[in-house]
Amino acid sequence: MTKPAAIPLTSYAPAVVRGDFPALAQSVNGREVCYLDSANSAQKPLYVMAAMDQVMTTHYANVHRAVYSFGAETTVAYEGARAKVARFLNAAHAGDIIFTRNATEAINLVAHSLGAQLQPGDEIILSDLEHHANIVPWYQLVQRKGVVLRVVPITETGALDMAAYQALLSNKTKLVALTHMSNALGTINDATAIAKAAHAVGAYVLFDGSQAVVHQAVDVQAIGADFYVFTGHKLYGPTGIGVLYGRRDLMNSLPPFLGGGEMIDTVAFDAITFKESPYRFEAGTPPIIEAIGLGAAIDYLNVQDLPAVQAHEKALMGAAEECLLAIPGVKLYSRAPARSAIVNFGLEGVHPHDIATILDQMGVAVRAGHHCCQPLMSKLGVSATVRASFGIYNTIEDVERLGEAVQKARKIFT
Ligand code: ALA
Repeated sequence: MTKPAAIPLTSYAPAVVRGDFPALAQSVNGREVCYLDSANSAQKPLYVMAAMDQVMTTHYANVHRAVYSFGAETTVAYEGARAKVARFLNAAHAGDIIFTRNATEAINLVAHSLGAQLQPGDEIILSDLEHHANIVPWYQLVQRKGVVLRVVPITETGALDMAAYQALLSNKTKLVALTHMSNALGTINDATAIAKAAHAVGAYVLFDGSQAVVHQAVDVQAIGADFYVFTGHKLYGPTGIGVLYGRRDLMNSLPPFLGGGEMIDTVAFDAITFKESPYRFEAGTPPIIEAIGLGAAIDYLNVQDLPAVQAHEKALMGAAEECLLAIPGVKLYSRAPARSAIVNFGLEGVHPHDIATILDQMGVAVRAGHHCCQPLMSKLGVSATVRASFGIYNTIEDVERLGEAVQKARKIFT
């Protein structure tokens, strides 16, 4: 497998892009797979696989600690990936990017390092839209430190209730930790307004951008994010790599999260000094191949017409909503004015897992369940829903196949 020297700039054609993703040519139950679960984990283009393969087949070594050529080349590729992520988020410096294992680990890092400085009674604001990764670390911090969680409700369309958010802010608020785009409903939050209001009371703001980075341009400086996290595997990159954006001045004021090699300056049994960020937060051998793979995924996206991709994903969502609403008994859960790429629905009298099973028999892959959002499911008054999510490689034929498969499920079960 050889890596192309450069990818040509393309005008966006989803059916052509689809050809870059070998798994999408596979058959499931006799039909070419119709993959509608990219919000869970996206398929990978050959380009990413080739970039990862190239490191391992031509110059693999550990980073930051080998003086020989392989070590130097791999270090350049790893640090190059950091610079690519920084440009992707418009971070001011590559050093503002910390590599983690996934978004979950990035949030846990902040919960431990910022959390170490919080006092009992300090407040953290979350919302009903949050995924478990942005709830559990804060609940654990409540147990450790006696901080208090406040939860912003959603409106009946599934949008964040901004008036309720404003009302929860006070001088007790130390952190606002919200999703930028809901993995379950596709709701897009107004990150800039959220950050402005948080800063007005002296609170930091963290956004989980795992979905948002896939479907819109993100500028962490324009937003005013203090912390911004995302995961690589939803952005067409590999698993095992996540990102925490945090300005070095802020990160250097926080204690390390994990301890080990490469995050230290000096070690004795009775005194240890730590490196500056980002290295103080990257203990041990980092996910080298995975970071380079994420850099390749960003390269791959950078040559696409991203505004056209994003408009297409939103249009597929609209077409899917229209198609599903024409089926008697379908209920849509995602109706927020600002939303994209995700359709969340149920079919009266049919369990979501049964729908997903019938869909799978027709080669259509969707997620059914609580979407790692049990509090949101409670709010919606259900234990599970069905979610179809769209990515760069989906086409209008995928929407037609979704509609056809849901029709069939209805006929079988009602
Ligand atoms: N991977 C989870 C999802 O499906 C969070 O959205």
